[in-house]
Amino acid sequence: MGRDVIIACDFDSAEKTFAFLDRFTEEKPFVKIGMELFYAEGPSIVREIKKRGHKIFLDLKLHDIPNTVKKSMAVLSSLDVDMTNLHAAGTIDMMKAALEGLTRPDGTRPVLIAVTQLTSTSEERMQNELLINAGINETIIKYANNAKAAGLDGVVCSPLEAGMVKESCGKEFITVTPGVRFADGEVGDQVRVTTPAKAKEIGSDYIVVGRPVTQADDPVAAYRRCVKEFVG
Ligand code: C5P
Repeated sequence: MGRDVIIACDFDSAEKTFAFLDRFTEEKPFVKIGMELFYAEGPSIVREIKKRGHKIFLDLKLHDIPNTVKKSMAVLSSLDVDMTNLHAAGTIDMMKAALEGLTRPDGTRPVLIAVTQLTSTSEERMQNELLINAGINETIIKYANNAKAAGLDGVVCSPLEAGMVKESCGKEFITVTPGVRFADGEVGDQVRVTTPAKAKEIGSDYIVVGRPVTQADDPVAAYRRCVKEFVG
C-alpha cells in the first residue's frame, strides 16, 4: 500500500455516512471507521462500505488480555478490513496474539498498527497519572519498537513524530498520522497539527483527515486538495 489520504468518517449513523460518501462519484476514498460509527451501526456498516469499493481502516484501538484480543481480531479480520489497530500498552504478548488472530487461513491479514501514546495525553499527565517516568518522545519510540518487535506494521502518531519513528524503526515501518489541517483552515480541538504537504515532507505514509473534509462546504474538493498536497 502506498501513500494515501484516509477520511475519518466520524458520523453517528449509516444514513449520514452514506449521504457523505454518495458525494464521491469519481473516486473511492480510503475511509476510517471509528468507535462512534461502529458502535452505532455494528459490523454491517463495515460490510456495506466495503461493498461500495472503499478501503477501510477500522479504528477500534483494542486493549485487553492476549486471548481476548486474538479472538476479537479474528472477527475483525473476517470483515475484510484493510487496516486495524490496538494499544501498544497491551504489551508485546498482546500484540503478537493480535497478529495471530488477524492472520486468515490463506496467510493474508489486514495491516496492523499500534497506538503508542494518545495525542491527547500530555507528558505531564503521563508521568503524574500513569507513573511513566520517561519523557513522552522516549515512550513513543519505546512503544513503537515494541510494536515492531511483535511484528506489527507500524504506528498511529502525530505527523510531527513520524520522522523520529521512521528514524528509530526504519523507513518501511508505517506511520498513520491524524492531526492534519490546511494552512488556511480551522484547527478545532487538535493541538499538534500540520498540513498535508508538511506531513508528506516529514514522512507520513497515511494521513487521517476528518473535519477538514467532512465539514467542508465542498468535501470532494477538500479531499482532492488533500490528495494533491499529500500524494502529489
Ligand atoms: O476531524 P479530525 O481531522 O481532527 O479527525 C481526526 C481523526 O483521527 C478522528 O477520528 C480522531 O479520533 C482520530 N485520532 C486523532 N488522534 C489520535 C488518534 C486518532 O485525532 N491520536
